[in-house]
Amino acid sequence: MKLWGGRFTKSTDSFTDHFHSSISFDSRMYQEDITGSMAHAAMLGKQGIIPQGDANLIIKTLQEILTDIEQGEVSFDEKAEDIHMNVESILISRIGDVGKRLHTGRSRNDQVALDTRMYTKKEIITIQALVKELMEVLNSLAEKHTETIMPGYTHLQRAQPVTLAHHLLAYIEMFKRDYDRLTDCFKRTDVLPLGSGALATTTYPLDREFVATQLGFSAITQNSMDGVSDRDFCIELVSDLSILMMHLSRFCEEIILWSSHEFRFIELDDAYSTGSSIMPQKKNPDMAELIRGKTGRVYGHLMGLLTTMKGLPLAYNKDMQEDKEALFGAIDTIKMCVPVFTNMLATVTVREQNMLEAAKGGFTNATDAADWLVKQGVPFRDAHEIIGKLVLYCIQNNTNLDDLSLNKYQAISPVFDESVYAAISVKQCVEARNVVGGPAKAVTTKAIETNKAYLNSL
Ligand code: ARG
Repeated sequence: MKLWGGRFTKSTDSFTDHFHSSISFDSRMYQEDITGSMAHAAMLGKQGIIPQGDANLIIKTLQEILTDIEQGEVSFDEKAEDIHMNVESILISRIGDVGKRLHTGRSRNDQVALDTRMYTKKEIITIQALVKELMEVLNSLAEKHTETIMPGYTHLQRAQPVTLAHHLLAYIEMFKRDYDRLTDCFKRTDVLPLGSGALATTTYPLDREFVATQLGFSAITQNSMDGVSDRDFCIELVSDLSILMMHLSRFCEEIILWSSHEFRFIELDDAYSTGSSIMPQKKNPDMAELIRGKTGRVYGHLMGLLTTMKGLPLAYNKDMQEDKEALFGAIDTIKMCVPVFTNMLATVTVREQNMLEAAKGGFTNATDAADWLVKQGVPFRDAHEIIGKLVLYCIQNNTNLDDLSLNKYQAISPVFDESVYAAISVKQCVEARNVVGGPAKAVTTKAIETNKAYLNSL
C-alpha cells in the first residue's frame, strides 16, 4: 500500500516503481531524514499539534530505526520510493496509527530539501577538512624548498627562475580560495526549509525556529515556494568543487610533466604510481592522470544540475530528484581525489639538482641581464634588444649567458663589466625579487608563516 494511495484505483506498474524510485541513491541520507523527523516530531508535540506522548513514541522509535539501519538490519523497499517514505513506512509498521501522525504539517518537498541541506552541510565540513590537510602538506613541502630553484614558465617555455616553494605557495593561494568558497556555500546551505510544506506552508502553528535550533541551522527560509524549489546550494557546491578539481587538475598536469623523463623534476612514490603490463621500465603517474580525468566528471555533474534546473516552473517538480546523483557524485569524487592527491605530494621526491639545472639552462636570467643594463642607464627597449642578441649568440654557440666571456658581452655593448655575472646568477634573480608575492626566500618564508597561522585558525 502506497502512503499516497488514497486517490488511486490501480497499483503502479512495477517498472514505473523502479523508474521513479530514488531509494537506491537517496538512502545515504537516512541519518539526516531520521534526525529531521525527530526534530519535527518534537516540535509537533511541543506545539500541541500532536499529543506529546505520541511525539515521544515517534522519536523513540525513529531512534531505534536509526540504530537498526546502522547495524544493517533494515532493508529498504523500492516500492516505498525514497528514503523519506521508507523511514515513514517502517515507523508505521512498528507503531501503527501513532506513526501516521509524523507527517502532519510537512511534505516530502520540504523534507527532501531539509535532508539534502543537512547532508550537504555535513559534507562541506568533511571536504574542508580534506582541503585543510592538503594545504598543510603543501605548506610543509614549501618550507623545505624555499631555496630550491627551478624555472618558472610561461607558455610552458622557461621564463624566469622561481623556487619550488614559490610554485607551491601559488597553489596554496588557490586552495585557500576554494576553502573560503566552501565556507560561503555553507552559509547559504545552512537555512532550514522545513515548514515550507508542499509549497505554500501550512495552517498548523509550527515552530520553525525551534526545529532550526534542534537541527543546528542558523536561519529559516523566508519564502515557502523558494524553500522547496531552491537547489542553488547544490549547484553552488558542485560549482565550488568544479573549481577545486580544476586546481587539482592543473597541479596534476604539472606533476605528470615533472615526473616525465624530459623534466625529471620529481619522482612519485611507488605507492602512488603504477607500472605497465608490457613495458618493464614504466612508472606511470596514473593517480595524477585519474584526478585530471575525474575533473571532467565533476564538471559534468555541474552541467547536469544546471540543465535539470533551467526550465523548471515553481515550485517542486520531480525533475529535482535528479539533483542527488549529481551532488553525491561530485562529493564522492572530491572525497577520493583530494586525499590521494595529498598523499601523492606528501611522498614525492624532489630532484633539486635537475630543477636548478633547468633554471640555469633556459636563459631564465635574461630579464635580469636586461635589468642590469637598465641600472647602468640603458633604456629598457635597447637593453631588451642587446640581451636578445646575446641570447641568439648563445643559442647558436650552444652556451648560456653565465658562461659567456666578458669580451663577447662587450662586443655587443661596451656598457658590460664583470658585475653582470653576479647579477644574473639564478640565485640572485630569485633573491632580488623580494617584494610581496615574490620568490625570494625572505618573502616565501614569511608567506609560509602566514599560512601556518591561517591553517591554525581554521
Ligand atoms: N524523492 C523525491 C526527491 O528526491 C522526494 C520528494 C518527492 N516529492 C513529490 N512530491 N513527489 O525529490
